[in-house]
This record gives sequence, structure tokens and C-alpha cells, in this order.
Amino acid sequence: MSVPQPPEPIPGARLLFSLDPAVSHLNHGSFGAVPITVQRAQQRLRDEMESNPLRFFTQGLVDRIAHTRRHLATFLGADPDGAALVGNTTTGVAVVLQSLGLRPGDEILSTDHGYGAVGLSIQRECRRTGAESRVLPIPLEATDEQVVEAVREALRPGRTRLLVVDQITSATARLFPVAAIAATAREQGVPVLVDAAHVPGMLSATVAGVGADFWVGNLHKWAYAPRGTAVLVVAPQWRERIEPLVVSWEQESGYPARLEWQATLDYTSWLAAPAGLFTLRSLGADRVRAHNAGLAAYGQRVVGDALGVAPTHLPDPGGPEVAMRIIPLAPGLATTVEGARALQQRIAERIATEVAVTSWNGRGWLRLCGQVYNSPEEYERLAVRLPPLLAQR
Ligand SMILES: Cc1ncc(COP(=O)(O)O)c(C=O)c1O
Repeated sequence: MSVPQPPEPIPGARLLFSLDPAVSHLNHGSFGAVPITVQRAQQRLRDEMESNPLRFFTQGLVDRIAHTRRHLATFLGADPDGAALVGNTTTGVAVVLQSLGLRPGDEILSTDHGYGAVGLSIQRECRRTGAESRVLPIPLEATDEQVVEAVREALRPGRTRLLVVDQITSATARLFPVAAIAATAREQGVPVLVDAAHVPGMLSATVAGVGADFWVGNLHKWAYAPRGTAVLVVAPQWRERIEPLVVSWEQESGYPARLEWQATLDYTSWLAAPAGLFTLRSLGADRVRAHNAGLAAYGQRVVGDALGVAPTHLPDPGGPEVAMRIIPLAPGLATTVEGARALQQRIAERIATEVAVTSWNGRGWLRLCGQVYNSPEEYERLAVRLPPLLAQR
């Protein structure tokens, strides 16, 4: 099988970012990267805030937040009345979990592809309420039909009070068929929370098309927003039950304002988020998606080849827009969370390349992302430098 051609670069895109040129940044997925124009937009808002904090917070801020929320919801194809701005996906998940009113005998079902911190949040909520957490293993190579079937069989109607499923998984970079999963759960009367942390900006799919009870996604990863910007979307039947983690002055205003106003915070990341969408649209959202997914596929293949992984053993993410790909590491490498962190740091320090190293199912994985600021040469360089580094255990 021949190596796929890398995509055409997007001219000048690297110059939009203030990334250290001495480093290859191949891990956009973890914390994103904020374009310079968006950083400036946020700084202008901070300047305005600091010129008169009283005026900034007390005159019109709630309306500006509402305006931003409608803008971001429309971009996501979500019902603007069902959307609420939150700081990040982790917060959105915690808000949903603690609003469910779980009791002993209830259970939350999630999968073994779920994000670690979300799993910890589920465990804490279960400890607090006496409910149980059940984790469904899903093989990496399962087809969409097999995934839906596995979930359908695992649901226990009347007992499973929430199914938590990722739209794009973090450790395994897999696109799950969340619309079909949500439809199956709906048939059995089980509510669904979709962790869509990586979806805004990366996928063209709409939130409405998923049909989940709860959906939460970060704008600060692939939609170029300043960090601290996420949208939680809640189906109409749940909105009145959703409570913020912190009660503040908008508590009596109902959903979504009571969720958004979380006392004195720096709200400028939310207000600057539309500048991130403007950057994405200016570059051409479809072009960016095709570029990023194509580059991740190219990177997976050249680095996979260098590590001696046959193309048939390189996991397919399951969709043409997924801009993250994983490569299996040799058995014994990065098999624990600590081992994965240590290897990730070693790669960053020794070969000036930021990647994600994850440990999943007792095996270590290298995760590579594609972004407009990356070039094929960065993956080719990694392909040359990584094998000798991994050989020195
Ligand atoms: C699938 C998934 N869920 C949740 C999160 C958490 O995102 P945040 O740290 O913005 O809350 C991440 C972060 O990478 C993720 O990949």
C-alpha cells in the first residue's frame, strides 16, 4: 500500500499562530492553539474590562453573553434556547451528572473509550448518591453496527439513568455513531449525554442531528476559541432540572442564564469566541477540515511505517473529518497512565515534538493531530527521530 499524498498546505496559516517555531506541535487535540487575531480580540475585551470593571460587569454583560451563546449555538447547529455556555466539557459533564438526582440502585453506563476525568466525575457522583458506574468495553476494531448493538445490549432500562458516550474519543481517536446510539437509547427510555469535546470545528455534523438529551463540546480545541469556552446543549424536557455547580445572581433567571453566570470570572474568552469562528470561516471550514484530517492520516502512515506498524494495524478513526489518528506502540511501552505521561514528556524534551501518548487497554498509543499550522515535514521528521528514541528504553 502506498503512503497517501499529504494535503495541499493552507498558505500562510502557520503565521496566524504564535506557536514556538522550534517545536513541532502535533497535539492540537489536548489544549488547542489560539490564533493571534483571537488573542487580540480577547485582549481588547480585557482592556475594556480593566478600563472600568464596574461598567463591564454591570452594564450589558449578561446580554453580551446571551448574544455570544446564540452565535455559537447557531454555528453548532444547536437549538439556541437549549444551549448554555460553560467553561469546558468537564464542567458541562459535572453539571449534568449532579442534576440527575441519582439514587441507590441507579447506574450510569459509559464506555472504556471515555475520557479519564469524565470517568472520575461519574465515579464521584456515584459515590455521592449511592448509584453505580458500569463501563462497557468496546473493541477498537468494532464496526459502527457492532458498537450500537453492544450499547443496546448493555442498557438496562429502568436502571440505567444515563448513558455517557463520546462522539470522538480522546485516547483512541474514534468517531462513534452517536446519533444511532442516541436513537437506540431513546427507544429504551435511557437518557444520553454525548461528550463532544473535540467536535466543534472538527466535524461538520450538527448537534441537532445527534438527538441526545445532553451534548457538550469545547470551542477551545478545534474552533479556535480562547480556552474556557464550551457549549452545553440540553433537550427541552431537561432544561428546568439543570442546576449550575455554583449558585449565583442569575439563579432565578432559569436555564441557561443561571448556568452561565458563575459570579466574578473572566468572561472575555466567551465574548472573543466568535473571533475564533471568524478565523475558521475565513480559512474555509471545509478546507480546514479536509486539510487537518488528511494531514493526520498522512502522519499516522509515515510514523506508523517508521515504527514498523503494518498499515492494516493502524486504526481508522471511522470518519473522513477526524483530525486525530493513533498508532500502536510496541508492547510494554506506555502501558500505564504514568508511563504514557513520561514518554510524552521524553518525546517533547528530546525531539522537540508535542504529541499525545495515551495508554488504553493495557497498551501504549501515540496520537497525532493535524492542524493548519502543521506541515508534512513535521511528521516525516518525527518518523526519523522517534524510532531511535523509543529504542533507548
Ligand atoms: C473526549 C474528551 N472529553 C473531555 C475532555 C475535557 O476537556 P476540558 O479539559 O476542556 O474539560 C477532553 C479533553 O481533551 C476530551 O478529549
